[in-house]
Amino acid sequence: MRILHVVGARPNFMKAAPVFRALAQHAGVQQILVHTGQHYDFNMSDVFFQELELPAPDVNLEVGSGSHAQQTGQIISRFEPVVLEQKPDMVVVYGDVNSTLAAALVCAKLLVPVAHVEAGLRSFDRTMPEEINRLLTDQLADLLFTPSADGNQNLEREGIAAEKVHLAGNVMIDTLQRMLPRARERQAKGWPERYALVTLHRPSNVDDLEWLKRLLCALFQAGQKLPVLFPVHPRTRERITASGIQLQGDGVRFLDPLPYLEFLALESRAAAVITDSGGIQEETTFFNVPCLTVRENTERPVTVTLGTNILVGRDIAKLQAELTHILSGNIKRGSIPPLWDGKASDRIAATLAAGI
Ligand code: UD1
Repeated sequence: MRILHVVGARPNFMKAAPVFRALAQHAGVQQILVHTGQHYDFNMSDVFFQELELPAPDVNLEVGSGSHAQQTGQIISRFEPVVLEQKPDMVVVYGDVNSTLAAALVCAKLLVPVAHVEAGLRSFDRTMPEEINRLLTDQLADLLFTPSADGNQNLEREGIAAEKVHLAGNVMIDTLQRMLPRARERQAKGWPERYALVTLHRPSNVDDLEWLKRLLCALFQAGQKLPVLFPVHPRTRERITASGIQLQGDGVRFLDPLPYLEFLALESRAAAVITDSGGIQEETTFFNVPCLTVRENTERPVTVTLGTNILVGRDIAKLQAELTHILSGNIKRGSIPPLWDGKASDRIAATLAAGI
């Protein structure tokens, strides 16, 4: 059986790695890894392949950056010949990035079965490009692996046949559990004892420069209370540069994007995390580290109902008030959602290897 995995952007790599490993335990499964090249910088891509021990991709489509239409269109036209040549029995796509949807669309038209890992998540906010990718990928997929039960409910509501849907658990947590001992060994020297960790890259936060300025001001204010470490995503760096915003104040350390192990180590010991990432909402819930999410909604509601996540929306006063609470020890404690047990990829591999 030939299974072809498609990855493209940073958060795909930690989701594909455990599925690839788990499938390698199944005799008779041949695996092919395709990188679309959506993310291409060393510290957005190669370093993750090294740390996660993913093999070098068999094919790199090298699509790079562009508008959504350009990027999606390039992946579609470059991926189709790869599928025709490789003749996979199944293609596995991950998460909600443009590479996910583009690959699923190619396969659906070529009548090649598609499995979607991290299916069913919904923010119910169609202004997010990821929501469009999630909705359409799930319509096209033949096998859908959900990380939590809310995903199954969403898919049922959208009329997706129940026999296609498997509640598998969270593959991101498989990687976290496997890598954590190594991350702890790497415990970076030179970081402060107590700090807040920040990541921001969503269009809703970084494309509106007035809002971005207000957010950065709030971070500088937080930086007067405790050091703020901010690994800056390339699109955020572009926007900050374009805006001409002065990065003043020594409480905030702007860093290059960090490798997985270093980021995990920092996240696990942070006093607070401020983010708009999806995966980081999940990881902080696993670590029981307080997380303030600068979004109006989340496609990962269990991180709010069961976990440590608080949505602060577009409200600087709320962000500041919640941070003050946390720093004074008033912390929302959570529990780890069901099936975030490090074995999601084993369950997925068993179903994939059984075929459809
Ligand atoms: C993409 C995903 C988002 C995910 C994020 C994780 C979509 C729609 N969005 O957003 O869901 O949370 O990845 O990082 O797929 N760039 C570089 N080097 C790189 C990659 C990007 O400099 O290696 C710059 C480019 O200027 C590019 C910009 O970052 O224009 C944005 O990259 P892109 O892949 O379009 O979207 P992300 O914001 O990274």
